Amino acid sequence: MSSTILVLNGPNLNMLGVRQPEIYGSETLADIESACRVKAGELDLAIDFRQSNHEGELVSWIQEARGKMAGIAINAAAYTHTSVALLDALSLVELPIIEIHLSNVYARDSFRHHSYISPVANGVICGLGSHGYLLALDALKRIIDSSAE
Ligand code: DQA
Repeated sequence: MSSTILVLNGPNLNMLGVRQPEIYGSETLADIESACRVKAGELDLAIDFRQSNHEGELVSWIQEARGKMAGIAINAAAYTHTSVALLDALSLVELPIIEIHLSNVYARDSFRHHSYISPVANGVICGLGSHGYLLALDALKRIIDSSAE
């Protein structure tokens, strides 16, 4: 059985570090990936960490995860608030899903208060910065272990 988690990052997250650091912090996506790798090692998981600015590419990666990965941690960034295609892909994947946002989207613009993907996520973590990614891995580990019992 796979123990690999697909960690997916949507548009503009490749610009972390320079992108509005007052909102998103000063860490780069590479810093977050390194922290996720350390955490995954502690949890006896592997990760496949990816970022794309293209909705269709994210959809294809989610489809490919079906039957291969153990779970998905996703920060869909702006597509969270717009993408029925991501909702549909996550709905067919049959894997545990944790939605992550670095910022507290509920303390921001009202258009960020709605997520198309939350209804198919096992849980949602927002507002805790990059620590949210590590918490998502913890949560996925728990879900995977409990479903294997
Ligand atoms: C984000 C929040 C989204 O509203 C925004 O479009 C992003 C990043 C976050 O991590 O806080 O790009 O997902």
